[in-house]
Amino acid sequence: MIPEQSPFNLSNDEAYRAWRDTKLESYPASIEQLIVEIKDPRQLTPTEREAILARVRKANMAVYVSDTVGDEDKQISHRVSAQFGLTRLWLDPNRLADDDGVTSLRVREDDEVRTLYIPYTNRPIHWHTDGYYNEPDKQIGGLNLHCVRPAKEGGENTLMDHEIAYILLRDADPEYIRAFMEPDAMTIPLNDQHGFNRPDRPGPVFSVHPERGYLHMRYTARRRNIFWKDDEQTRRAREALESLLASDTPYIYRATLQPGMGLISNNILHDRSGFNDDPAHPRLLYRARFYDRVGGT
Ligand SMILES: [Fe+2]
Repeated sequence: MIPEQSPFNLSNDEAYRAWRDTKLESYPASIEQLIVEIKDPRQLTPTEREAILARVRKANMAVYVSDTVGDEDKQISHRVSAQFGLTRLWLDPNRLADDDGVTSLRVREDDEVRTLYIPYTNRPIHWHTDGYYNEPDKQIGGLNLHCVRPAKEGGENTLMDHEIAYILLRDADPEYIRAFMEPDAMTIPLNDQHGFNRPDRPGPVFSVHPERGYLHMRYTARRRNIFWKDDEQTRRAREALESLLASDTPYIYRATLQPGMGLISNNILHDRSGFNDDPAHPRLLYRARFYDRVGGT
């Protein structure tokens, strides 16, 4: 149950309008406003940290540009995240992640299981939030992506604050939100292959954290291995969200992370375009996902 006073309660229009107006006031008009120049992500100055935090508070994401070009150090991902209270790492139960919980994302043609999973290939990844297949109490709150080396071409990320998606959908028709909050709106069917042992995972698209009250989104645009609730309301909501994500709204940002750059965010909507590697210098990104959200957001 969503508390009466929550802005995400569909029957409380007043609280919603107040929250929405604050959210949209001075909302970043371009990704440039989300970029923070820092020296070393492993050891932020108070000013650098505050600048990143302010952006995440506003838009659920910030992009840093650091002096760590050429530094192949997975501790960057651990340490930058910890400074924002991101410490409870989600450990990939399928064991595809490296042992310390920070995943090295790179093309793994040498590995026959990994090549079946798109993050380890150069194919495009469609819009999603992270961990949409997790148990309800193991949803991803925050994440860090840190770029060691970009691809030769492509590998662009598209980013959208999930709270903005909520606002645009609710303003268009609150029934979209009602459909997306149904506990069986979106089901990821079981996966019992390649060491996975995951049953069906039904759940809502939008939910509100029972204690902390923040809005969480669970979504994937994938077409295969997914069951959407088979009714008219859910179909309409899906179509509205798909059109929004395919639109040229200024709320969708694009960025191709360059060496030393990284994303600190809550679990926002994102995708990744396909890419081509220079075999001598293949794309390498570190990714860490946490149960925690960025501190203070
Ligand atoms: Fe992702």
